[in-house]
This record gives sequence, structure tokens and C-alpha cells, in this order.
Amino acid sequence: MVKYLVASFEWSSDIGNEIASSLGLAHTIIESKFFPDGESYVRYPIDLSVYDGLILVQRAYPNQDSRLFQTMLAVDAARDLGVREIHVVLPYLPYARQDRRFRDGEPISLSTLLTLLSSLKVSSVIAVDVHKPEAFRAPGMRCVNVEPFEFYADLLRGVDNAVLLSPDLGSLWRVKRVSEYSGFQYSYLEKFRDRVTGEVTIRPRELDVAGKEVFIIDDIIATGGTIIEATKVLKSMGATKVHAIATHCLLLNNADLRMLEAGVSSITCSNTIPTKYTRVNVNQLIVRAIKELIT
Ligand code: R5P
Repeated sequence: MVKYLVASFEWSSDIGNEIASSLGLAHTIIESKFFPDGESYVRYPIDLSVYDGLILVQRAYPNQDSRLFQTMLAVDAARDLGVREIHVVLPYLPYARQDRRFRDGEPISLSTLLTLLSSLKVSSVIAVDVHKPEAFRAPGMRCVNVEPFEFYADLLRGVDNAVLLSPDLGSLWRVKRVSEYSGFQYSYLEKFRDRVTGEVTIRPRELDVAGKEVFIIDDIIATGGTIIEATKVLKSMGATKVHAIATHCLLLNNADLRMLEAGVSSITCSNTIPTKYTRVNVNQLIVRAIKELIT
């Protein structure tokens, strides 16, 4: 039988604690700091030689690049110290949106990240609501996408006249999933993003939102541009209220304030990135996924 340890970085220890206590495993917090020149340092404060399995938990936002590199240092140290099986939990998976080459000369950054983790002999990566699950894969490593949609359906209990909307066709499957749990009708908007400026344009489609409460469901709120543009369009079409539900709320440059000013009635986020809008806790979904991976 494999003896597992849960190790988390300090800012991820709430998730690490819950995983460890749910699975009856020991939990340690990895020491980390930056050298004066900015290079990362990590250290396990306990003897790893008694463990053969590790569940490593890292909230890799903000400071994605350094937190990802810390993760790689921690993976490599554990393997070097004799741990055979390593599962990495990255609740928010950085670089997931660069899952293809949008312009000539670009890297497919998600693939780069996963290739690096796989080359370090990580057994599996567990992430929540990955932008495009079909792009979340790498040779020799399991990639597990945890879906929070049953929880989003729970948020809709007691609402009568709701429509679920995806801000674009690519995310339509999300609202379909929430609809499977809640029974509400769903549709999508047409979104265009200028790949150079990042500016978002939403084109209205024939949608029956007049007199209805609309719930926009998305994986990420970054600049808020998508939700703001969608809200303007939906309000002009007669929607009574527009609510935003997103798994990962980066809320850049006061995106939340700008969304509320644009008429968004509520913002709901999960705890992958804690914010004052966090109302959905995905920890037990992560635990469920880990249970299926460990022996
Ligand atoms: C992109 O396709 C994603 O699903 C989100 O819609 C996007 O990342 C949101 O970004 P922003 O808030 O900057 O419009």
C-alpha cells in the first residue's frame, strides 16, 4: 500500500488541510521564499523518505510563473527524495487559455506547462474547470478536470425565470452541464476577441431574455470585459437581471467594480482563487477526484 502525504504551499493550506483530513492523511506546509536575486527556494520541513506518494497542492495564482516553478522544484525534490507517485493539484490551471496557436510564432503554453510536469514524472494533474478540457492532456500523465457545475445548479435553487447563458459558443457545454442539473434553458452569445488588443465584442443573437434573470456562466473572469459587454447586450434585450458565475475570478483592475457599475446584479466565484465573491467551495470535488487516483 502506498503511504501518501499531502503537502501544500502556505496560501493553499486551506485546500491541503481539507484534502488531508478528508482522506485521513498527514499534511505538511512546504517552506518557500525568494533569494535576494528573486530565485525561488522550497523545502519540505519533514522527512519525506517515509512516504511513497505525494499530493502536492498549489494555488498557482497570483504570481503564476514563480508559483509554477516552485511546484516544479517541489515535485523534483520529492522524487529525488524517493517519492514514487506524485499528484499535483492546481485548482486554477495557469496558461489554460493559451491552448492553441492563435497567431503565428506563439507557443501553445498549456502544452508547454503540461510537458514540463510530465517530464518531471508527475503521475497526475488535477485542476478545476479547465478552459478547454480536451486540450488538458499530456503523454504519460493523467490530467483530471474537476467540474463544479452541480454546485452552480445549487445556486439557482428558488429562481423561477432564469436563462443560463454562455458568453461564447466555446463555453456552451458549461451551461449545458448546469442545465442538466437544474433544468433551466440555456443558450450562448457570439463573442469576438481582438487577439492583439484583447478587446471583446459581443454580438446579440435571437434570444428570449426579455423579463428574465440571466445567469452568465464562464470559467474565468479576468478583465471583466466579456461579462460587461454581455451585460450591456442582455440589458438592451430586456433581461431583468444579469448574474455572473465563474470558477476562477482574477478580477483584474477592479473588474468587479466595473461589472457592478455596468449593471451586473451579482458575482459568484469559487475558492480556486479566493475573493470576496467566493460562494462555491470545490475542495470536496477535488477530494473525490483524488480518491479515484490513489491506491
Ligand atoms: C475565454 O474564452 C474565457 O472563457 C473567458 O470568457 C475570458 O477569459 C474572460 O476574460 P475577460 O474577463 O478578460 O473578458
